[in-house]
Amino acid sequence: MIPPKPPSRPDHVGLLGYARRFRADILSAQPARLYRAWMAEFRTPFFRSYMMNDPELLDLVLKTRPDDFPKSDRVREGLAPLLGRSVFVTNGDEWKRQRRIIDPAFAGGRLRDAFPGMRDAAEAMVARLDPGEHEIEEVASYAAADVIFRTLFSVPITDALASQVFREFRAYQRTQPLLNLAALIPLPRWIPRPHRRATRQAARSIRDALSALVDRRAEEIAAGTAPDDLATKIMTYPDPETGHRFSPAEMVDQVAIFFLAGHETSASALAWGLYLLATHPGAQARVAAEAPADWPGLAFSDLSKLPFTRDVFRETLRLYPPVPMMVRETTGPETFRGRAAPLGAQLVLSPWHLHRHERLWERPDHFDPDRWQGEAAKESARRAYMPFSAGPRVCTGAGFAMAEGVLLLARLIAAFEVAPVGPPPVPVAHLTVRAKDGIRLRLTRR
Ligand code: HEM
Repeated sequence: MIPPKPPSRPDHVGLLGYARRFRADILSAQPARLYRAWMAEFRTPFFRSYMMNDPELLDLVLKTRPDDFPKSDRVREGLAPLLGRSVFVTNGDEWKRQRRIIDPAFAGGRLRDAFPGMRDAAEAMVARLDPGEHEIEEVASYAAADVIFRTLFSVPITDALASQVFREFRAYQRTQPLLNLAALIPLPRWIPRPHRRATRQAARSIRDALSALVDRRAEEIAAGTAPDDLATKIMTYPDPETGHRFSPAEMVDQVAIFFLAGHETSASALAWGLYLLATHPGAQARVAAEAPADWPGLAFSDLSKLPFTRDVFRETLRLYPPVPMMVRETTGPETFRGRAAPLGAQLVLSPWHLHRHERLWERPDHFDPDRWQGEAAKESARRAYMPFSAGPRVCTGAGFAMAEGVLLLARLIAAFEVAPVGPPPVPVAHLTVRAKDGIRLRLTRR
């Protein structure tokens, strides 16, 4: 069975086509030829944009000359009410300084410290679930938020401030339109953008609750009573080059992105992974068979004993990359595949297209976890797989997310058999790739 992707539109995208798609969901607005093209240029009166699927161009933008292709101010402006000047939106020296402080907290060895929090969240997830029908994105969001709070602040999602952040965040999401062209490109300011005020208010409420969590932690650090979790590590680690530590205000910006990037994305991947297993019972049986017997005693290193579950999670990130597209901007004139691109051109890097590209993957639309053991997929993965982006701006939480994804998937499938309910879900892009009307699954206790 081929998992669903949204219906493609006709091949040609002219200016009028673009205008019509302006408010359409960005995934269903994609013409079929983009799953075959190495590059596509879009010209409009306001901007020039280049969608890049050529692995050499992606290397150029993300790895060889990343400083020449920063995130645009527009990305920062759009997310500033929630994220302030967090590592996700800054560029240049400010961004480098922030990564020097944050990266060590997520480095391999430190992930081992975060693992018990993930494991407790996985146990809490299955303890909460009853057999029967569930909207699984909801279940996945709550579980992923629980993971973030337990690993970042050593509190479960049931903590008063944590559950307040989760609630406020859902309100924020409701103010967000689908991720459409308007959200990605530099349009003139006079073009109205919906929900702006509601978005700002919701963002303020989230930040107030996050500030309270950060302030509480700052007091614990001062009193010497702080637990050694991700928040403490990041708040106490000095930049090795300047000695600077994040102030509580700077930390709120960073915590906001850990929460946003860390829970929305993982929840999306977990929900689609469960859907793929529900529709592929053979693969589901193999995940259940390799699951360990002793969950509460599980150690970080035991995850390496779940190779098939890991391949299922990798394949899920290929077919449903939670971050479907990224945007960068040129800072000078460039030539891409023989075509001249002006200063300020928008570069759209699309895991969504790259991962289903007909010239880069065999049977690109098929769910086939075993492909990850073959040489062909290893080569495709090297050139055409970037669910976490690539180069110096690669996702800080990639290792964290792989451990969490494999653990939660394995834990849920060990406890329940899952089966699909109703018509296949249609993927759409909100902040991450979600199903248009949710994903309904029936859970039966094993
Ligand atoms: C399956 C889960 C995840 C996926 C697919 C994912 C994907 C991504 C992608 C594609 C980017 C690059 C975006 C861009 O350059 O425009 C990114 C950046 C980032 N992610 Fe993740 N992410 C995941 C989980 C996490 C987690 C768990 C955390 C932290 C707890 C996290 C923290 C970040 C941060 C801080 C950045 C900004 C890095 C920078 O710009 O330097 N992510 N993520």
